[in-house]
Amino acid sequence: MADLNSTFCGIKSPNPFWLASAPPTDKEYNVRRAFDAGWGGVVWKTLGMDGPPVVNVNGPRYGAIWGADRRLLGLNNIELITDRPLDVNLQEMTRVKRDYPDRALIASVMVPCEEQAWKEILPKIADTGCDGFELNFGCPHGMAERGMGSAVGQVPEYIEMVTRWCKEATDLPVIVKLTPNVTNILYPAEAAKKGGADGVSLINTINSITSVNLDTMSPEPMIDGKGTHGGYCGPAVKPIALNMVAEIARNAETRGLPISGIGGITTWRDAAEFLALGAGNVQVCTAAMTYGFKVVQEMISGLSQWMDEQGHASLDEIVGRAVPNVTDWQYLNLNYVTKARIDQDLCIKCGRCYAACEDTSHQAISMSPERVFDVKDDECVACNLCVNVCPVENCITMETLEPGSMDERTGKVVEEAFADWTTHPNNPSATAAE
Ligand SMILES: Cc1cc2nc3c(=O)[nH]c(=O)nc-3n(C[C@H](O)[C@H](O)[C@H](O)COP(=O)(O)O)c2cc1C
Ligand code: SF4
Ligand code: SF4
Repeated sequence: MADLNSTFCGIKSPNPFWLASAPPTDKEYNVRRAFDAGWGGVVWKTLGMDGPPVVNVNGPRYGAIWGADRRLLGLNNIELITDRPLDVNLQEMTRVKRDYPDRALIASVMVPCEEQAWKEILPKIADTGCDGFELNFGCPHGMAERGMGSAVGQVPEYIEMVTRWCKEATDLPVIVKLTPNVTNILYPAEAAKKGGADGVSLINTINSITSVNLDTMSPEPMIDGKGTHGGYCGPAVKPIALNMVAEIARNAETRGLPISGIGGITTWRDAAEFLALGAGNVQVCTAAMTYGFKVVQEMISGLSQWMDEQGHASLDEIVGRAVPNVTDWQYLNLNYVTKARIDQDLCIKCGRCYAACEDTSHQAISMSPERVFDVKDDECVACNLCVNVCPVENCITMETLEPGSMDERTGKVVEEAFADWTTHPNNPSATAAE
């Protein structure tokens, strides 16, 4: 049986599944039930300064995007950090950590960008017995306008400075949570490392407006006729998060920096993909908000079963395994040739592949009067658009042409040797180098 025990930045948990800082981790009641359901750790809903509690809107907080089956694909929120008093949160965290010593309890923190504020609050929170800190430099709404959250996360110098303050204020691990609302995720990640961060977590939510009500002409969620940008998360953001995790994992300056992967993780497979791209563990929010805490049980059993089937004894054997296969475009093998293949037994003759290829790709699918669809190998550029628009899974697949066979489109024999853009005769740089 695969060993799912996880050690992230020195923090131990019985599995790599943590709940991300958000409503699921907002209070003792939730977190106890989350731990009872099997979550390996939680990042407590972000704590702020002592003083008058944060005020949330009293109207809707969420906007959403759904698939055709009404499955939630993307969630947008305008919620702020915790609106509960600091001392209440700290008392609850203390009790939870006492009763669940084997689970990871991380305190997410966001206070103004002042040295004293960070240095005062961290020791106070550490008294709860928590296992580490996550610095919330990510929330894109509400707090950013007050100079916190993504307002800090978008300025690498601030990240480095605040991280350094925090490392001076505590011996506990400090994880820096990054905002994806930047042009290049490497700058904030490198800054976190320079500041002494033990690890980074990403992504926080993406700036977004999910919809506009065309009757009231207001962005949604609508509060008394007005709306504002919120933070986007859920399955729709997973590709963005995966790319950012991979960028950090393969960047020379940040290689080896522990990464907690967040963004759209809904199934064990999503989690395994983040681990393969270099995440040491994962955090989940929207999936728990959509399906409840017990969703972790599927994640645990699915990951464990897959690891057994693949012969992976522990998480170390998966983490980062796909990173060497992430490369830049110019290093892709141009001698790798595929063609689309249609399984006539599965085809329901809807014609989507034909419309897509004929109008927007390479006119490589023929349609007979009887609506039989066939691929023209002499036109197919192997873009795989037809695969993606076909409503029947595995009805269209891409077949790899063996070296030595003829590519009818180019009239050239497929070569066995690897050849990428860097050596291609059409590449002016390659030619110049000769
Ligand atoms: C309603 C809501 C509130 C959130 N509040 C916080 C927060 O207080 N602190 C924080 O660091 N992230 C917060 N997040 C972001 C999540 O922790 C997480 O980074 C993001 O939702 C992406 O993960 P997901 O796709 O699994 O939801 C919040 C997300 C949601 C949906
Ligand atoms: S792979 Fe692209 S070019 Fe080939 S048949 Fe499909 S859509 Fe057309
Ligand atoms: S999209 Fe798929 S199911 Fe529809 S005609 Fe093409 S191959 Fe057949």
